[in-house]
Amino acid sequence: MTDSDPLTGRWDSSYHAPVMVEEVVALFKGAKQVLDCTLGGGGHSEALLASGASVVAIDRDEAAITEARERLAPHEASGRFLALRGNFGEIDRIPELAGRTFDGILADLGVSSRQIDADERGFSFRPGALLDMRMDRRSTGTAADLLNTLDEAELSQIFRDYGDEPRANRLAREVVRRRDRKPMRVSDDLVDAIRGAYGARTGPSEFARFFQAVRIAVNDELAALEKALPLLRDRLDPRGVLAVISYHSGEDRLVKHTIRGWSQSCICPPKQLHCTCRGKALGEVLTKRALAASPAETAMNSRSRSARLRAWRKAA
Ligand SMILES: C[S@@+](CC[C@H](N)C(=O)[O-])C[C@H]1O[C@@H](n2cnc3c(N)ncnc32)[C@H](O)[C@@H]1O
Repeated sequence: MTDSDPLTGRWDSSYHAPVMVEEVVALFKGAKQVLDCTLGGGGHSEALLASGASVVAIDRDEAAITEARERLAPHEASGRFLALRGNFGEIDRIPELAGRTFDGILADLGVSSRQIDADERGFSFRPGALLDMRMDRRSTGTAADLLNTLDEAELSQIFRDYGDEPRANRLAREVVRRRDRKPMRVSDDLVDAIRGAYGARTGPSEFARFFQAVRIAVNDELAALEKALPLLRDRLDPRGVLAVISYHSGEDRLVKHTIRGWSQSCICPPKQLHCTCRGKALGEVLTKRALAASPAETAMNSRSRSARLRAWRKAA
């Protein structure tokens, strides 16, 4: 259900407030067929439908598909909207998408507010929430499984790489010490380990950072993105646009380097004096620097503060 103010969060729903909607719609101006790889609450899809595009959307999360289909039912009935369950890292395995190409493709990474707010999904550090964090509940391996089975070095790598924590081994050691007495089960167990490792004064921003790190590992999010980027590029029509919104520095770095690589015309080794590859750029980067949400948007939607939008256009 849409419940938003037309001047502010026009595409918000009780499910999720979409980030940088105007910027996304502007990047896809004139697009007729858009693939939304991360349907979530359907805010971006709805704005793109309103701009005149037809939208095929996917999500790993069954609950997101069900709710967004309800919200966008009139568009589905008119044949302009189709929602499919699937992982964007395995897009070639979705039968309905076989052979289909698009003139715009969007990926708005991470999780939605609804997923975070639903305690039973276990993404949140609210007391008593089960440590689950699976976007696709058919998949095996919850956050608790990961925290109870990985060794200290593996945990340390997750907290360092996905949680940007230089003293990650402290937390890894603390988790292992605590789980040997009592297995990790609920959010409090991880919160207590964070406090134990870094002191009682750690608060919500540290909890959010480490919970995000565990979530990225549980859902293998960077691997899915790395696999997806070339697959999505191949699904673009000539002059089609790929836009990615990231909320984590590792994801943003991956997108930045990947689209830069696709935009190089010469791929000869850097020390070679003369070009022999006669390479041709696959396309061009549309965002020299990542776009960030406006101050007005960050004031209204704190989730948008860490958002970085990058876009790339495929060659003609
Ligand atoms: C930030 S939310 C998207 C919000 C959406 N743009 C909106 O306007 O409401 C991200 C969504 O992407 C989904 N998701 C994350 N990784 C995915 C993947 N590899 N494949 C498919 N869906 C994924 C999550 O389940 C979540 O619903």
